[in-house]
Parts: sequence; structure tokens; C-alpha cells
Amino acid sequence: MTVIPPEGVGLAGLRTAARDCRGCELWEPATQTVFGAGPETARLVFVGEQPGDQEDRRGEPFVGPAGRLLDRALTDAGIDRADTYVTNAVKHFRFRPTPKRRLHQSPGSEHIAACRPWLDAELALLMPEIVVCLGAVAAKALISPSFRITADRGRLLPRPSTLSEDEAGVQQTWLLATTHPSAILRTPDEERPAAYDALVADLAVAASVLA
Ligand code: URA
Repeated sequence: MTVIPPEGVGLAGLRTAARDCRGCELWEPATQTVFGAGPETARLVFVGEQPGDQEDRRGEPFVGPAGRLLDRALTDAGIDRADTYVTNAVKHFRFRPTPKRRLHQSPGSEHIAACRPWLDAELALLMPEIVVCLGAVAAKALISPSFRITADRGRLLPRPSTLSEDEAGVQQTWLLATTHPSAILRTPDEERPAAYDALVADLAVAASVLA
């Protein structure tokens, strides 16, 4: 089923409509749709992969362990999360149930494609000055399928404008990709401080656009 987000309803209306999304099969085992969160005035948008276990239960993006690491990195980069909008490429938690816990499974290209109209609708409404892709799923979806985080992270890339942005006379907007916070949590102890510092440095580049 192709998703067609409603028009002219604002972020709140999109969030309400996305609750009943049946664009792919991920809605069924998930607890709920986890839509983006943050003010409509946000100049900086973060796009992650998909909600995790805690996000699925609470209905908010990046509120689990990866979210806590992101919050710390944002503070260290001088960014107030309350001024940003945080969302995901896929808005349902994809997991494999096991007796003990629900194991994260990466979304497939079909899930990313099915969910894309929601992400496009969020970005069209927000018209952010910079979109920060957290990890390869978001970067491949929004920048290029051949994008490699290790090689291309932390660089400001011009973001092609959309028709609505052209009509609104929006100035140059930017894309930047960095490591996913979950990848830092999985980094071996001895390498984690450097991986964390690199994330903060990339976020500081994003913040420089807003200065
Ligand atoms: N990982 C993501 O990509 N998004 C979330 O919301 C939580 C964890």
C-alpha cells in the first residue's frame, strides 16, 4: 500500500495520520508508530534509522540508550535538543522476538521506501537549514545509496531544494552524515572515547551552520 500523507495538517496532523499507517507489515508486531518529535520551528533535523525497543514502548524517538548518548553528544557540541526535530527513516520497530528480548533487525529497503513519504512530508513542513543523518540507513536514503559513513562523515553537503522550498525562497540548505549513536555504544571500550569525540566534532560542524 502506498503511503499518501495528508496535506495542510501540520506536524500534529501528520503524526496522527501516521498512527494508522499500513504502508508495510512492520506496524503489526510493533507497539505503535514512533513519529518524529520536536518543534515545527526546528532549524536542525536528525534522521536516525528506526525506533528501538524503548522507543517502540514509549512512542518517542531516541529515548533509549542511543538517545541518551545522543543527548550527551548534543550537549557537548553546544546543541539544545529542544530546538531540534528528531525522527527516523522508518517509523516502526523491526525486531525478531526471542524468549528474553526483542532483537533489533535492520529495516529492509522496502520498509525504508514505504516509510519515505512520511519523512519527506516532515522535511517539507520543517524546511530545516540542515539535516543530520545518524548512520548509514538515513545517509543512504537521503544522500546517496553509495554513501559510506567512514569515508564521508562530517562534511557539509548541499541539499537539493524541493519545490516548496523554492517557492518559499529558502536559502541553501545542508546535509551532513555522522555515526549512529548505537554504533558508538557497540564500539570496543578502548576505542569508544575517540568514536564519541568524532561524533561530537561532526555535530559541531552541523551546529556551525546555525551560528
Ligand atoms: N535508533 C534509531 O535509529 N532511532 C531511534 O529512535 C532509536 C534508536
